Amino acid sequence: MEIVIGKDAGDVAARAALRLEELCKRPGAGRFSLALAGGSTPKRLYELLAEPPFRDGISWDAVEIFFGDERSVPPEHPDSNYGMAHRALLSKVPVAAHRMVAESGEADAYERLVRERVAEKRDGIPAFDLILLGMGKDGHTASLFPGTAALQETGRLVVMNDVPQMQTRRMTFTYPLINAAKRVWVLVPGADKREKVAECVSALKKPGERPYPVTGVRPAHGELVWWLDEASAADVGPA
Ligand code: 6PG
Repeated sequence: MEIVIGKDAGDVAARAALRLEELCKRPGAGRFSLALAGGSTPKRLYELLAEPPFRDGISWDAVEIFFGDERSVPPEHPDSNYGMAHRALLSKVPVAAHRMVAESGEADAYERLVRERVAEKRDGIPAFDLILLGMGKDGHTASLFPGTAALQETGRLVVMNDVPQMQTRRMTFTYPLINAAKRVWVLVPGADKREKVAECVSALKKPGERPYPVTGVRPAHGELVWWLDEASAADVGPA
């Protein structure tokens, strides 16, 4: 597990944009499968990617965008992760993107799409080049919320998950798909997540400790990077 600590949320977004561009431009990179996170944190990163130098530095024709989770709303709804990403990035660069049609409830269809489009497999599971995630204050990630059924899923890669604490259903990647990725970046700046970040980072140093859904994100063969800022990292102990 690598921890990158930026000065603030803006600096985290800038550092992540730079590393993402480097990943896309490395020799022999070929096609780059990228799953976007929702929520508010990644918005600045997406906006940066849509501006120079990243807009022109990344070969968007080699990038294929997916979503790690989605709310059960149409794209024009203010809660739509696709809508946020479309306004910030997808409407500004020529990139292929696959919206998660969560309102249809057809998780199997999205799983089939992922299996078809993400060429590289690890143990038969599509291995994304990069999956972006955030973390809620309750320690959820994607739409893997505490106490919900999707946490126990070991076979399917994409499911509809009932989230009673939010009176909603969401579509989400499951651990088997997330943990097959070559890289997973968890973006968690902000003082409001300081305590949870410290608990999670501590738990991630121990194999069996999974107190929150985000601590179940442990790529079997890939890299795990937590992107923090000084405020959210304030209680994180020494490496
Ligand atoms: C979602 C996200 C979710 C998000 C966290 C953090 O659909 O809500 O995928 O997992 O990353 O809720 O959200 P913020 O970035 O808004 O704090």
